[in-house]
Amino acid sequence: MYSKFSSVLSKINSVAIGDAFADLILQNCALINVYTNEIQERIQISIKNDRIAFVGHDASHTSGPKTKILDVKNKYVCPSFVDPHIHIDHFLTPAEFVKKSLLCGVTSLFPDSIDIVSVCGYRGFKEFLRQTENLPMRFFHTIPGGLPVDRKFSHGKTLSIEEEKQAIDLRSVVGLGEVFSWTKVTKRDPKTIKSLKQMHDNHCIINGHTAGASDKKLNSYISSGIFSCHEPINFEQVLERLRLGMWIMIREGSIRRDLKEIVPLVLSHGTYKNRLMFCSDGLDPSDISNIGHIDHCVRESIKLGMNPIDAISMASKNCFDYYKMGNELGGIGPGKIADILILDDYKKIKINKVILGGKIVVSNGKLLEKIHTPKVPTWIQKTIKLQKLTDEHFHVTSKNNSEIVNVISMKTEIVTKKDVADLNVKNLNIIPSYDKDIWKVAALDRTFGSKTKTVGFLKNFGADIGAFASTWSFHENDMIVIGSNEKDMADAANKLVKSQGGIIVVKDGKTLASLPFQFGGIISTDPIDKVTKNFTKINDILSDFGCKFKKPHLIPLFLPFLALPDIRILYNGIVDVKTRKFIPTIQTTI
Ligand SMILES: [Fe+2]
Repeated sequence: MYSKFSSVLSKINSVAIGDAFADLILQNCALINVYTNEIQERIQISIKNDRIAFVGHDASHTSGPKTKILDVKNKYVCPSFVDPHIHIDHFLTPAEFVKKSLLCGVTSLFPDSIDIVSVCGYRGFKEFLRQTENLPMRFFHTIPGGLPVDRKFSHGKTLSIEEEKQAIDLRSVVGLGEVFSWTKVTKRDPKTIKSLKQMHDNHCIINGHTAGASDKKLNSYISSGIFSCHEPINFEQVLERLRLGMWIMIREGSIRRDLKEIVPLVLSHGTYKNRLMFCSDGLDPSDISNIGHIDHCVRESIKLGMNPIDAISMASKNCFDYYKMGNELGGIGPGKIADILILDDYKKIKINKVILGGKIVVSNGKLLEKIHTPKVPTWIQKTIKLQKLTDEHFHVTSKNNSEIVNVISMKTEIVTKKDVADLNVKNLNIIPSYDKDIWKVAALDRTFGSKTKTVGFLKNFGADIGAFASTWSFHENDMIVIGSNEKDMADAANKLVKSQGGIIVVKDGKTLASLPFQFGGIISTDPIDKVTKNFTKINDILSDFGCKFKKPHLIPLFLPFLALPDIRILYNGIVDVKTRKFIPTIQTTI
């Protein structure tokens, strides 16, 4: 983490007054001061160990024989960036993620590792935290607060109140992650209320998720002591929440990008920005490599007309103020942790160097130290508890010649609508229809090995492949298999059982693309370049074969996601989210 104030106070104090010498002095800084909203010229910054000791026009009294001097003439210096809400238990190991995120000037992450808990419970949470130790990045973990998504249907693993208490006591844990669905709070679900009370009693921050809530419901949620939200998708929602005392994380990540909608209206309205932050909520390997991370949010906001110092404050100071850590992090001043960016251009956010705890970790776009992935234990590489599957497992039986079936119709990769279709029956099995763009879809319990599964039908998928399967699906982590024929569906599923996790595209028994997820069936242990290549290939292949959506990989991820309407498929049935009822695959006739 970082040095304790009490242990370094005397040392820092001594350097500041000139009774001891700094390790590093940054000279000739144009300091972007997030405390006063100004740029100060010709500033010198003295650093001792991982903290800033002195900031002023003349630091010569802190310079000794061993002090390194870094002249940053014509460059700008600002606090480094923070992602205050991100799910990083996806795609990449934390070590691989850090390699890209650091290059984007991010030195602190507040992860919400919800899916590793959904698959592996508290043991998985602890292992995931272990994976983040000793990396050149500050990790401030939140305990997943969104599980189960819906107690009536969800079956993923969760943390007990006792386990949450144990997690609070872990050094890198700062609070509770996004609490959804919000109805668990407004309806005072007993376990949720116990969890919130425990967090408050232990002075932990609680992150919010208030998509769709307003007025009474929003008030009820906030009044439970949940003071942030990253779900507003328009300015009206931002303003309603700010007015009620919330902090807003403007989301700009791989699932949604809300910045362009919100920032211009923040500017034209003249909204107070001290309670605004940026967050990604999760980034896929292609986006972090090609678009960037929080640096992109700052850059885009400046392009949209935001004052660069405001944008930088939103990416640094405001995040730590929200987490009540602003006395030690988020700005450049004596006593603060020395997490600093040196910029060639502060309007374009051209990063020259990244300093983490007084140490230069990135220079001219290159990492200065090797980042190693900690050993991944064997147990977490064996989480797909399914046995060999056959074609019959994907049959939907009927004795009639045709059947009217309920259909999950894809409107986007994420949004679904309930529909019906008339499908033929062949050899007592209802078959999908290429002409009607109707495919089979199955959800299988891969977490507990209960052998429970549901087979249904999916419309508008469009890709003329044999099967497309994933062991990762948001917060339920059922295995999802979409296919045009049962043989390829069984083949794809069996290949994922063999590899113990991943995403795969199969046609006529041949693997067209695959991305292994060896870690819990949700994270690849491969290097980022390999993951990005495999990930890109999956989406490209599905597009080439006719999928209408830009990011087909999202389809299996969201199919069981109960926090969104209209209709979802889980291992235990097809769920109408609005009525909160299971619906049958075959429509029952009167
Ligand atoms: Fe989230």
